[in-house]
Amino acid sequence: MAPPMMKLGLFLQGGGHHIAAWRDAGVASDAPQSLDHYLDVVRMAEQAKFDLVFNADTQATFGPDDINVWRRTTAALRLEPLTLLGALAAVTKRIGLVSTATTTYNEPYHVARFFASLDQLSGGRAGWNLVTSLAPAEAFNFSRDEHVAHADRYERAAEFAQVVTGLWDSWEDDAIVADRNSGVYVDTSRLHHLNHKGKFF
Ligand SMILES: Cc1cc2nc3c(=O)[nH]c(=O)nc-3n(C[C@H](O)[C@H](O)[C@H](O)COP(=O)(O)O)c2cc1C
Repeated sequence: MAPPMMKLGLFLQGGGHHIAAWRDAGVASDAPQSLDHYLDVVRMAEQAKFDLVFNADTQATFGPDDINVWRRTTAALRLEPLTLLGALAAVTKRIGLVSTATTTYNEPYHVARFFASLDQLSGGRAGWNLVTSLAPAEAFNFSRDEHVAHADRYERAAEFAQVVTGLWDSWEDDAIVADRNSGVYVDTSRLHHLNHKGKFF
């Protein structure tokens, strides 16, 4: 039997994880917002045979509570991950492109569409890290004072995942026939309404 293969993922973190990493002379000062920086990183990761790059995310600036610490770190700077991963898809061929998306501050249709689009553009390399939101500040950006209770977030998350996967499966893989002679582009017999009815959705 072949030995098990280790899977390697690289955590994309613009200026580095250490609070002072950005001060290293070898790190571009605009690394967290620089397309060139991420292109270099993803190309190196692919060449080094990593299986995936992973983009963590929160729906709020993220960092230590102490403002004197916060102002010394690049942690708060995050690009919108699906936009970034779409750009990285264009310069890579094999590496997986994985991002976080929260089930607490999205609707399933948003997430299904974002990741289906990334999956199409990347030739099947999209991956979803489902979270229910970690940072309390995310609530403020969605007109709430705090997250809903932990157990309720996970109950919604379970149904959310069902809806997302159901939406993905509502188009069969061979639904697009693109038959120039007949003029039929989509075989509608291979499309299915999800008709989901649950507690949250
Ligand atoms: C590998 C890994 C990556 C994570 N990435 C994120 C992330 O990008 N965004 C986020 O809000 N939480 C992230 N989390 C935290 C989880 O959402 C979660 O809060 C944590 O696993 C604790 O579980 P709990 O929700 O039961 O407290 C990550 C956790 C792990 C283990």
